[in-house]
Amino acid sequence: MSTAGHMLGEKYSRFAGRRVFVTGHTGFKGSWLTFWLSQLGAQVSGYALAPTDDEALFTELGVADEIDHHVGDIRDLDTLRSALTSAEPEIVFHLAAQPLVRRSYDDPLETFTTNVTGGANLLEAVRHAPSVKALVFITSDKCYENKEWVWGYRETDELGGKDPYSASKAAAEIVFRSYGLSYFSQRKNFGYATTRAGNVIGGGDWSADRLVPDCIRALRGHKPIIIRNPRSTRPWQLVLEPLAGYMDLALQLLDDPKGFSGAWNFGPSGQNFLNVEQVASCIIQNWGSGAIRREIDPNAAHEANLLHLSIDKAVSQLGWRPRYTGLEATEITTKWYKRRTEGEGARAITLAQIRDFVAAMERA
Ligand SMILES: NC(=O)c1ccc[n+]([C@@H]2O[C@H](COP(=O)([O-])OP(=O)(O)OC[C@H]3O[C@@H](n4cnc5c(N)ncnc54)[C@H](O)[C@@H]3O)[C@@H](O)[C@H]2O)c1
Repeated sequence: MSTAGHMLGEKYSRFAGRRVFVTGHTGFKGSWLTFWLSQLGAQVSGYALAPTDDEALFTELGVADEIDHHVGDIRDLDTLRSALTSAEPEIVFHLAAQPLVRRSYDDPLETFTTNVTGGANLLEAVRHAPSVKALVFITSDKCYENKEWVWGYRETDELGGKDPYSASKAAAEIVFRSYGLSYFSQRKNFGYATTRAGNVIGGGDWSADRLVPDCIRALRGHKPIIIRNPRSTRPWQLVLEPLAGYMDLALQLLDDPKGFSGAWNFGPSGQNFLNVEQVASCIIQNWGSGAIRREIDPNAAHEANLLHLSIDKAVSQLGWRPRYTGLEATEITTKWYKRRTEGEGARAITLAQIRDFVAAMERA
C-alpha cells in the first residue's frame, strides 16, 4: 500500500480499484465521500443533479475530472438504470435526496418524489444490476417518530416524521425494507443496509437554512449570526464520522452480507450534544470575530427540539465510534471555512482534514 493510501485509512485501502457508484456525489456529503474514495484509488461513478452553488465543494475539489461523472435526475429511472448498469459497480452509496426540512414544507411533492420515488428507483436499478454486492442507503435520524424524549433512538424504534422531509425519509426506509424482504434477502452475496446519521457539519456545505453555512455567510458578510432556536440540541458530528461509518459498513457487507444487512445509526457519543447557541459561539470563537442575535419566531414551522441517536449497535458490532467531540467538530469545520476564505485551496484543506481524521481513528 502506498504511503498516501495509508494516510487516508489503512482499512480503506480495500477500496482501491473497486467500482463504486455514489448518488448525490455533487452534494456536501457526496463530495467529501467521492473525494475520499477517489483519493483511495476507487473507480467512482457518480449520479446527481449538477451543483447549484457558485462555491460548490464538488466543483472546488475538481473531482469531476477524476471520476465517471453523470448529471441526471434520480426520478428518471431509465437514465439512472443505464448509468448504474454501465458502471457495473460492486458497491453503491445512495445519498441523492432533497435534504432540507424548510424546503420540504415549501415543496412537499419535490421532497417525496426525490426521496421516496427516487429511492425506489435506485433500489429498482440495483435489483437489476447483478454486479452490486453491497448497498448503503442513506436516510436520516429524522426517520424516527420523534417523541421528544431524552433517550436515544434505536434502530428498532418506530419510524415516523411530522414534516415532509422526515416523513419522506421514514417512507424511504419502508420502501427499502420492502425491497429487502421481497427481493434482496434471496440474493446471494448481496448485503444491503440503511444508515441514519444526525446533523452533519463540515467545510464546503453552502446549503440554505443550515446552521453552520448560515453562520459562515453572516461572518463573511460582517453581520450578526441570527439564531431562532438557541436551546435546540442536535446530534452534530463532523461529516467524516458518518462517512467512515458508511465505508466501514460497505466493507463489512462485502465480507458478511447477511450479518451486516439492516439499519445502522451513526451519531455523536452521549456527552456531545451541543445546542444551537453553543455551536454558533464556538464558530465565532474559532473565526476570531462575530456576534449572535436571537430572533425567536413564535410562528415558525414545526421543528423537533430534541433528537438523539443510540449508536450502541454501530459501536459494538461494526467497531465504529465517533472520534471528535461536538466542539472539536465545530472547530475543525470553522477552520475549513476560514482557511478557504483566506484563499487556501479546498482540495488541500479537505485532504489535510481527512488525514487528520484518519490519524485520530488509527491512534485508538
Ligand atoms: N447534511 C446532514 O446533516 C444530513 C443529516 C442526515 C441525513 N442526511 C442525508 O445525507 C444525504 C446527503 O445530504 P447532503 O447534506 O450532502 O445534501 P446536499 O443537498 O448537499 O446534496 C444532495 C445531493 O443529492 C442530489 N440530488 C438532489 N435531488 C436530486 C434529484 N432529483 N436527482 C438526482 N440527484 C439529486 C444533489 O444533486 C446532491 O448531489 C441526503 O440523503 C440527506 O438526506 C444529511
